[in-house]
Amino acid sequence: MFITFEGPDGSGKTTQISLLADLLAGRGYNVLKLREPGGTAIGNQIRQVLHDLDNVEMDARAEFLLYSASRAQLVAERIRPHLAAGGIVLCDRFADSSLAYQGYGRGLDLNTIRQITQFATGGLKPDLTLYLDIDPLRGLTRRSANGEEWNRMDAPPLEFHQRVRDGYYSLIAAEPARWIKIDADQPVEDVHAAIASAIERRLHLV
Ligand code: TYD
Repeated sequence: MFITFEGPDGSGKTTQISLLADLLAGRGYNVLKLREPGGTAIGNQIRQVLHDLDNVEMDARAEFLLYSASRAQLVAERIRPHLAAGGIVLCDRFADSSLAYQGYGRGLDLNTIRQITQFATGGLKPDLTLYLDIDPLRGLTRRSANGEEWNRMDAPPLEFHQRVRDGYYSLIAAEPARWIKIDADQPVEDVHAAIASAIERRLHLV
């Protein structure tokens, strides 16, 4: 089972993935928690380039290919082996982030993104994707209030983040069976309860 988490910056994905991982591990599942970009030694080096606030001149195509390179490494080195061993993979962002940020946000062609992603991942798709929904301004405010890392991808104007969110809505509308939309503008425990009951309904795991 391959489950991904998506959402605007500051939607609380990282906290929620940890809570779900603990819940599933407590039920005896073999859970692997990963994040993009990163999750491997090579991916973490790519992450530094992507997040460096000095890299103001990065072309949108170069940006997308770096995310794709990190993804290819993560799929080959960590995700496929864990799935093959019968485990559950929980991933903080995956290819939908490229469609939302580089496609809808930066304006790269969506079909080209899909083709290159197919090549990078060998066609691996999530079984289920949880979308943690939050107003972009609320998310970014939450992020800086929590003193979290502020990276190059947080810096674009609010309109960019709004396009990303609208992009996610289009992706959900196109493939409703794969997505679960959760209201992330609630206390941590309430978001976790909503995720746990959605996982129960869809996958009968908990
Ligand atoms: P990160 O600090 O991991 O943020 P978050 O906690 O919100 O996931 O930063 C990841 C950033 O990279 C985030 O702004 C989204 C962006 N991103 C893309 O633009 N395209 C991608 O394909 C991926 C995986 C992430």
